[in-house]
Amino acid sequence: MGYSQSYISIDPGEYHVLHPRPAYLIVSVDKNGSLNAMAASWVMPVNDEPFIIALALDKETKTYQNLVETGEFTVNVMGEEHATLVYRAGSLSGKNIDKWRLLKLEPEPSKQIRTPGVKGSYGFLECRVERFIDVESVALVLARVLAIHVRGDLYERYGWNLEKARILMHVRGRVFTVPGKIVVVPKS
Ligand SMILES: Cc1cc2nc3c(=O)[nH]c(=O)nc-3n(C[C@H](O)[C@H](O)[C@H](O)COP(=O)(O)O)c2cc1C
Repeated sequence: MGYSQSYISIDPGEYHVLHPRPAYLIVSVDKNGSLNAMAASWVMPVNDEPFIIALALDKETKTYQNLVETGEFTVNVMGEEHATLVYRAGSLSGKNIDKWRLLKLEPEPSKQIRTPGVKGSYGFLECRVERFIDVESVALVLARVLAIHVRGDLYERYGWNLEKARILMHVRGRVFTVPGKIVVVPKS
C-alpha cells in the first residue's frame, strides 16, 4: 500500500462517496391495493437473527405513504438488465402516475404478505415494518424480513453466484455499475 498520495477535501454533504451501493426496487401497496415500485439504494442489514433491515426513505415518497398505510413491502434485488427500469422507478413518483403499469411490472406472489415481488428480479425479501425513526426529511424504516425468495440459477448455498448474477449498483445519477471482480482473502 502506498502512503504518498495526497487527499483533497470535498463537500461534507457529498454522499456519493459512500456509493456504489446496490440499487433495489421497493414494492409497496396502498390501502386500496394499488401497487407501486421505487428505486432504493440506501438499504442495509441491521441484525441477522431475527433478520432486520433498515431503509432510508424520503417522507415525500408514495412508498413512505404506503408503508405507513399497510406496513409491508418487498425488497427486490435487480440486475444489469434492469438498469433502465430501476432508474425510471427512481425518477417518477407513484403519487402522480400508476408507475406499476407504466413500467409494465408483473407481480411475483409473496408467501407471508400481500405485497408481491417483481417478476424477473433476481430475488426478493418479504418485509414487515417494525418502526419508523424520524431523521430530518427521511424516515429510517426498520423492518423484519419474513421470507426470502431467490432465483435458483443465480444463488448458491452461501450467496449470489457473481459470475451469473450481475447485481445492479448505483454510482450517481444515470450511472450504475455491477461487481466486476471476485477477491478471495487467502487463509493465514
Ligand atoms: C438508483 C436510485 C436509488 C435511490 N435510492 C433511494 C433511497 O434509498 N431512498 C429514497 O428515499 N429515495 C431513493 N431514490 C429516489 C426515489 O426512488 C424517488 O424519489 C422515487 O420517485 C420515489 O418513488 P415513489 O414516490 O413512487 O415512492 C433513489 C433513486 C434512484 C434512481
